[in-house]
Amino acid sequence: MCRHLAYLGPPVPLARLLTEPAGGLYEQSWAPRRQRYGTVNADGFGVGWYPSAGDRAPARYRRAVPIWADTNLPDLARTISSGAVLAAVRSATAGTSQDASAAAPFRSGGWLFSHNGRVDAWESLPADSGADLPAADLLGLEAHCDSALLWAMVHRRLRNGEAAAGALASVTRQTAAARPGARLNLLLTDGRSIVATRRGDTLWYRTGPGAVLVASEPDDDSDDWREVPEDTVLLATPGGVSTTPLHAAAPHREAHPTMNDRFTLDHRLPDGYLDRTLRADVTEGLTADPKILPPKWFYDARGSVLFEEITRLPEYYPTRAEHEILQHRADEIAAASGAGTLVELGSGSSVKTRLLLDALDRRGTLSRYAPRDVSPSALTEAGEALCRDYPGLRVEAAVTDFEADLALPDATGPRLVAFLGGTIGNLDTAQRAAFFAAVRAGLTGGGDAFLLGADLVKDPDVLVRAYDDSQGVTAAFNKNVLQVINRELDADFDPDTFEHRAVWNVPEERIEMRLRATVARTVKIPGVDLTVDFAAGEEMRTEISVKFRRAGLTSELAEAGLAVRHWWTDEAGRFALVLATPTPPPPLPPPPPPPPPPPPPPPPPPLLCP
Ligand code: SAH
Ligand code: AVI
Repeated sequence: MCRHLAYLGPPVPLARLLTEPAGGLYEQSWAPRRQRYGTVNADGFGVGWYPSAGDRAPARYRRAVPIWADTNLPDLARTISSGAVLAAVRSATAGTSQDASAAAPFRSGGWLFSHNGRVDAWESLPADSGADLPAADLLGLEAHCDSALLWAMVHRRLRNGEAAAGALASVTRQTAAARPGARLNLLLTDGRSIVATRRGDTLWYRTGPGAVLVASEPDDDSDDWREVPEDTVLLATPGGVSTTPLHAAAPHREAHPTMNDRFTLDHRLPDGYLDRTLRADVTEGLTADPKILPPKWFYDARGSVLFEEITRLPEYYPTRAEHEILQHRADEIAAASGAGTLVELGSGSSVKTRLLLDALDRRGTLSRYAPRDVSPSALTEAGEALCRDYPGLRVEAAVTDFEADLALPDATGPRLVAFLGGTIGNLDTAQRAAFFAAVRAGLTGGGDAFLLGADLVKDPDVLVRAYDDSQGVTAAFNKNVLQVINRELDADFDPDTFEHRAVWNVPEERIEMRLRATVARTVKIPGVDLTVDFAAGEEMRTEISVKFRRAGLTSELAEAGLAVRHWWTDEAGRFALVLATPTPPPPLPPPPPPPPPPPPPPPPPPLLCP
């Protein structure tokens, strides 16, 4: 195996990272403390560093000798300083290049890359593992070894515009699928952010003021080191670290890793939460009659992209209608709330949110945006774009389930909690009551406010068209849930044997999205040990989208202690934006009257004289 590290932060002499720490990379070359495979890493070493903050062309020093045998290194390490470093010590596999070309870091343009691990039979990785590289890439491999091939696979993805975290995650997943025994701890930096995967060996990180160090193992015994769990992708900048389960990391949704020190992504869901809730929802929903699935499982990376496409469809009016209201009312909302913190639940791409951010910014109160969503990819993409476009804004994103955790960030000034897009309609009556009560419980009476977007009851033809568009995008979005279950629970749903349906439920005043089985079919879902029979024509409900009326929604909010202060609609009256504030809790009932005084004791019996 090998050991590697990457550092971002204030410039430090390389010695501080390599040779000085008691258990640093130098020592790890002959006495690694946590290495899972192999004992020494004496087949070469390398260090890459960015000479100055603005210089994106890293320098590199690599040797084929053990790091301790290089007599030049101590002087170089003592005199070269950098704020962005990637270094590695190598343990070579038989049959691979033994010269310095196979020592990490591999480099292209502004990137430095290292691989700690091993891929057996890497020369014959199948094409569908992503190893089907163009001839020029294969001929240009820096060395004859698995790590150089992995770097070429990652680099092709980066060249094609993929985000670093997604590229690393995809290469790790695909290689692991082709070679299940492969050990794939990958490490990549562009000098501004570090991306790493952990699969097969150890990975740790430590943060300090404006600095982060990611390493195969801790270089000392201090307890500020954090271990990265197995099968994880890590994204780190001097401003923070985020980790995502490998299978959930979205290759095609993230932007370039312009991780910004004003952007943090906090994974608030407990370990395995999504996995457990998906299993519970699938087991319960697919054994119910009729079968149902909750809509939150639409939103993997592909589902989030499909939803964004839906918002641009001519038939899907809610996004445009809400946008229109925000255009007209954002300044009024900003004036009414004066918020310094904008919290958004189910924030998705945060596109419409920009109207609110702009208005709060114009008003001069805005300092922080706190988006919350179940989709890490949506949060990352939106957060990075916002940091780019709003130079003074802190974006504190959190991966949460708004039905389970509505803890709001502390703030000194007023907070505005937004729940846009009509997502409230995806909850049933009981879920809405619980949700509104939780929102109310989180708001203080000191100026906090709740901004809610709600779609309104209208002509059923318009509604059905909005959920059954002519281009079939909503159908693909609906069927995506089957692919999520196939992928996550190993199921064998054939999406082509299901038909998308959008039905207006008159008494409930809601659109129901369903999937109808076109043929009788038994579906196996090994991940939850379930076999489910579908009769031909049987329908499974995948989403409700309730449409509201003013009186009903106002009273639901009032019931939870939220008073409607403003009710705005678009000009056509299709969609409402509601600004509500917490009402004081009802006064305590007057104390019960004091109990009547006890009756006087009976007179004592006459004394009997003897
Ligand atoms: N607010 C955005 C996105 C609406 S799509 C807009 O108006 O366009 C619904 C969003 O809610 C998705 O991004 C989805 O990932 C998120 N979501 C759905 N269920 C959720 C849940 N239970 N907890 C947190 N986010 C959820
Ligand atoms: C996110 N939510 C408000 C959308 C809606 O309209 O209910 C989800 C959606 N389903 C189909 N199209 C859009």
